[in-house]
Amino acid sequence: MQKPFDFVIFGGAGDLALRKLIPAWYRAYREGQMPKGSRIFGTSRKQEQVDGYRDMVREAAFSFLRADEIDNETWEEFEQCVFGVYINITENDEHWSNLAKTLDEGNEERIFYMATPPAVFSACCKNINDSGMISENARVVVEKPLGYDAKSAEAINSEIAQYFDENAIFRIDHYLGKETVQNLMALRFTNCMFEHLWDSKSIDHVEISISETVGLEGRASFYDDAGALRDMVQNHLMQLLCLVAMEPPSKLNADSIRAEKLKVLDALRPIVGDDVAINTVRGQYAAGVSGGKEVAGYLEELGKDSNTETFVAIRAHIDNWRWSNVPFYLRTGKRLKQRCAEIIVQYKTPTHHIYPDSAGKMIPNRLVIQLQPDERVQMIVTSNNLEKHETELVPSVLNLNLTDHYEKFYSDAYKRLMLDAAANNPALFIHRNEVDAAWKWIDPIIEAWQRPENKPHPYPSGSWGPQASEDLLKEGGCSWFNVGEN
Ligand code: BG6
Repeated sequence: MQKPFDFVIFGGAGDLALRKLIPAWYRAYREGQMPKGSRIFGTSRKQEQVDGYRDMVREAAFSFLRADEIDNETWEEFEQCVFGVYINITENDEHWSNLAKTLDEGNEERIFYMATPPAVFSACCKNINDSGMISENARVVVEKPLGYDAKSAEAINSEIAQYFDENAIFRIDHYLGKETVQNLMALRFTNCMFEHLWDSKSIDHVEISISETVGLEGRASFYDDAGALRDMVQNHLMQLLCLVAMEPPSKLNADSIRAEKLKVLDALRPIVGDDVAINTVRGQYAAGVSGGKEVAGYLEELGKDSNTETFVAIRAHIDNWRWSNVPFYLRTGKRLKQRCAEIIVQYKTPTHHIYPDSAGKMIPNRLVIQLQPDERVQMIVTSNNLEKHETELVPSVLNLNLTDHYEKFYSDAYKRLMLDAAANNPALFIHRNEVDAAWKWIDPIIEAWQRPENKPHPYPSGSWGPQASEDLLKEGGCSWFNVGEN
């Protein structure tokens, strides 16, 4: 049984804490997964937020949780474990020693969660250290963005490393907490039928796509500095790429998994100089219709001119034995046609076609792993059209819809990851070397994009992105497989 813990959220009144972290702990509590005696502290430097902390988190959580999850009685029990604490992160005052005292009287397991901008990570870690809170069982969880490029990421990692050992630093990527992402490993490493067909001999190409319908969502200043490449590709898409492409780890532990992921990142063919224009597409949404409503373009939403990309498509190659010559197409964007995250593994077609031309062309098999909106795994196979007298080859779908299969199942990536952090299991968290390797691959792309002639392609909101993204795949004789439309 997991030990009770003290969980301190720095930035306890912020968006992440209110919308994701506290609701996730409530879910864990409700499902009996939060050990009795555990405590959650949310810090704020506004006394009124500290005083009204429980009311504030309840109001926020109730607007975020699904109606069928809200149960007043359970919430009242749960909130007895939740405490507001006054802390000014950058000020080293008596409030830190008060918190240290409270923790000393509590549980041995301590988790500090940095739900703050990275600019204050260092000051926060220093104050945690100087007030004597880093016990043997203390760990720190850090949220992205972990830097702006390889250099700044290295600086952040070095600062945190002054106070915490690498094995006590949990770098979170919430995509790794999604259950279908976990299932991807189960699918690959427990089913012979996939693993034996998981290489360049059988696979034509892989598509990994995260499309969103939302726009800036009140994060204009953060987003305009970051852009889609830093916000989504350097972390979520590259982590998914690692899980699809890595060799089977020898054990299911953090060291083995991270070592295999790192090998993939190291084998990624650098995209530098002129190759950037050939292998990448950046776009920016213009006005259009999204979710049935007319929406403004990025520049109008932002209120100023900007070259920041809200869409990225990349053709990547992994230069190793398994993946030689198999393109991995990565795509992400805001204000696209549908909200969807999916991995498509497209197989080669058989080399010899025994059917007459009238039966139609060979249709490639596709393995579709959908992470959202539904969590499902589909295999697209070719069969005969039974309604026709003559043979006609058509695609048919073998469908495992996990959302229907487990009716009560509701995936909460943060719950999964926070429980792992509380249980001191770092397998689903990112090692410093991975962050470093991912930035080193991304940096030359950013550099090339900074040239003034390199402007993002505009695309209408509600579309699948700029035409150049379609062309990127067309060059390889394929096209994006948008699940909802196929
Ligand atoms: C975050 C990005 O990491 O992931 C956001 O900063 C993005 O811009 C979000 O909207 C997407 O996460 P999900 O789980 O909703 O697909």
